[in-house]
Order: sequence, then C-alpha cells, then structure tokens
Amino acid sequence: MTRKIGVLLGSFRRAAFTRSVADAAIAQLSDNCEASIWALDELPLFNQDYDDDGATPPQWAAFREQVAAADAVLVVTPEYNRSFPAVLKNALDIASRPAGENRWAGKPGAVISVSPGRIGGALANQHIRQPLAFLGISVLQQPELYISDVASLLDADGHLSDERTLRHLKDFITAFEDLIG
Ligand SMILES: Cc1cc2nc3c(=O)[nH]c(=O)nc-3n(C[C@H](O)[C@H](O)[C@H](O)COP(=O)(O)O)c2cc1C
Repeated sequence: MTRKIGVLLGSFRRAAFTRSVADAAIAQLSDNCEASIWALDELPLFNQDYDDDGATPPQWAAFREQVAAADAVLVVTPEYNRSFPAVLKNALDIASRPAGENRWAGKPGAVISVSPGRIGGALANQHIRQPLAFLGISVLQQPELYISDVASLLDADGHLSDERTLRHLKDFITAFEDLIG
C-alpha cells in the first residue's frame, strides 16, 4: 500500500539549501512512498476569526484535507534566530484547528535541520519537536539529523552530493520508514 508523506519545508527561498536536502531525502524513499512538498508559503496567516466567521480560506481547507490524508510528515527546516521559521508554525497551527479537529494527531513524523553554519540548525530541530509532540505526532527520535555547512555538501547544480551525508540521510529515511511501518 502506498504511504503518503507530506513534506513540510521551512524555507521557500528560490535557491533554498533546505529544498536541496528535502529533494535528496525524497529520493531516498522507497517505491511504496509517495512524497509531496506542501505549499505552506501559500497559506494565509492563522487567525481564528476566519473559522469563527465561516470564512475559512480555501487554502486552509485544502491544506487540512491534505494533512488528514497523509500517512506521515517529514519536516526539513533551516534555523531562524535559533528556532524554526514562522511558515512552519503557521501550518502547524492551521491544521490543528478548529478545536477538536487536530489533523496531525497520530501521524509519524521526522525532522531534518539544515544550516550553512556550524550547528546544523540544532535549535530549530529541537524547538519544533515541542509543538509536534503536543499535536500528537510521533517523532523519530533516532537517528537525529543536523546538516551543518550545507553549502559545502552540494554540487554545482545545487544537488546534495556529499557521500557521507547521503549515507546518513539513507539511514535516517530507513528509520523513518520503519517508524511509519
Ligand atoms: C531571519 C533569519 C534568521 C536566521 N537565523 C539563523 C540561525 O539562528 N541559525 C543559523 O544557523 N542560521 C540562521 N540564518 C541563516 C540561514 O541558515 C540561511 O539563510 C539559510 O540559507 C536559510 O535556509 P535556506 O537556504 O533553506 O533558505 C538565518 C537566516 C534568516 C533569514
């Protein structure tokens, strides 16, 4: 049976390192997984009034359905100011509501953090685990994956090409698929 995996990116910058890593992660998934990168950057900012007024934005409604239909979620994120970017928090909030309709609950998840700096987005990676746990997502605990100095790991076309990192990524994705079951 095909398992649907929603990929939540923390950056939609045109040449995002995050995207390069996400593409490499998706490429490691086995054939019975179908991954799609969700357009979190098209989601209007959360405001409960939209739901309360019966004016739920269509992008929210479609996103909530996407989340409900997914078997698992993979977060690939940079670190912004020692935490994770707002685009991710907005998405988590939107599909957690209206109250009592949390679409995230019970899904397996995994987190990869990415940085051109030296600590691999470790604080973003740790911070996002807090809302993910609260939302009932079972997050892969081991192995962890913090990708530092990411610019040095890409080839001239922006593809992740560093062999050691690709091996870590493979181990990570294998463990994630085991968690999904
Ligand atoms: C608002 C902002 C805050 C940032 N804060 C951090 C940080 O706390 N830690 C870090 O390693 N890099 C930080 N950076 C640098 C990002 O790691 C870098 O811009 C990276 O390229 C962003 O990921 P992307 O290439 O996927 O867009 C920050 C960048 C921005 C724009």
